[in-house]
Amino acid sequence: MNTRIFERVASYSVEFLSALGKRRVSPTATVEELREAFGGPLPERGADSESIINELIEAAEPGLMATAGPRFFGFVIGGALPEAVAAEWLASTWDQNAGLYVAAPAATVAEEVAGRWLLELLGLPDHCSFGFVTGGQMANFTGLAAARHHVLAREGWDVQASGLQGAPDLRVIASEERHATIGRALRYLGLGTDSLRLVETDGQSRMRLDALQTALEEGSGPTIVTAEAGNINSGAFDRFDEVCDVAHAAKAWVHVDGAVGLWAAASPGCRDLVTGLDGADSWATDAHKWLNVPYDSGLVFCAHPESHKAAMSVHADYLVHAADERERDPMDWNPEFSRRARGFGVYVTLRALGRSGVGEMIDRCRAHAWLFAERLGAEPGIEILNEIVINQVLVRFMAENGDHDDRTRRVIKAVQEDGTCWLSGSKWKGSDVMRISISNWSTTTEDVEVSVDAILRSAAANP
Ligand SMILES: Cc1ncc(COP(=O)(O)O)c(C=O)c1O
Repeated sequence: MNTRIFERVASYSVEFLSALGKRRVSPTATVEELREAFGGPLPERGADSESIINELIEAAEPGLMATAGPRFFGFVIGGALPEAVAAEWLASTWDQNAGLYVAAPAATVAEEVAGRWLLELLGLPDHCSFGFVTGGQMANFTGLAAARHHVLAREGWDVQASGLQGAPDLRVIASEERHATIGRALRYLGLGTDSLRLVETDGQSRMRLDALQTALEEGSGPTIVTAEAGNINSGAFDRFDEVCDVAHAAKAWVHVDGAVGLWAAASPGCRDLVTGLDGADSWATDAHKWLNVPYDSGLVFCAHPESHKAAMSVHADYLVHAADERERDPMDWNPEFSRRARGFGVYVTLRALGRSGVGEMIDRCRAHAWLFAERLGAEPGIEILNEIVINQVLVRFMAENGDHDDRTRRVIKAVQEDGTCWLSGSKWKGSDVMRISISNWSTTTEDVEVSVDAILRSAAANP
């Protein structure tokens, strides 16, 4: 075994991570240049391992986006805490298959402990089950799969055995501004997007309770309601206590998509946002977003472990399944069969930050969001559109000719080309907006200040 490649990767990684805060955020290579660098015919024979690793680094470097760095504010990507990166290296080194306890005892127990810690950190009921999935998409899928099982079982229908053909109609009620992964999960689940009944939102993208009530009253039978902790644009939170009250009165299951915002539950300063969160039936979130664990790391929690397990568990004679309740087989709670031991990253992050450290990280990012809003909003011709509830800032650039959408898009493009920071745009309530998402552990006030300067420079150059 050539162990020199590990030393090379370790020393390169130290250089890369140490310089991450200083490097240009956007890549420099074009798609053609990257194809050229990675391209060529399928090699007939393998090559020398050190050259391959060196060439990989050389080819990738100009095409890397500094998403893990402190001035990346696009898409809610989040960074990666050093301890979490180190744990992920170990997960690759150990190469455990965390599907079964018998194949990966240490990995499954680390997940079990981290899962319990997470329930406590997020204030969720301690009897909940959990799964360490690949991301928010699969967390929503898993939560909704448990929901589908549960609400149909109550009608005497076994969806695991009988599927959906001939099943009672199942309604899914969701916000008109739900995340795209909700509809995609419904497609995976055979429910289709036509099963969605959309509920109007208020001016900040929260579901309107009167509209939810009307939607619930319009029909009957098995029903799932999805709510949101952290709207993808405004960052708004649905009012979980009220959503749960009306939905549960109609015997509906409440699933919370908290890919970004569930972490706010770890901050005492955000208590008001998450009132009643613990009354829902399932929750989805991403460790690879605001917890700052490397990709790909999502989490699902479920208040009805029997339905969660019924929807996910699997048996095969050649496997060695957990002998009893003392062992936990992750494949009973996950859509995957074999899988990497991604729980190590979450476990180590929780140890590195502790309860207070997670809360402080959330509060720091919120303070940065307020600073962005305060500085940009103070400039003539720049408007902040949303209430800053967590980490999201929506900015609009007003044009003298009245074409605010066009100017907003031009400013976004100019900021991306400038390279000081990176952010992107969105459509919110019919208008183009610049969308700033702050979710990186290493972002400092100075990073925010230089990024605001870059945005103002770009705005001045694009009147
Ligand atoms: C609210 C919300 N839900 C779900 C997702 C999907 O998460 P992932 O990209 O980890 O699958 C996202 C991602 O941005 C999100 O913001």
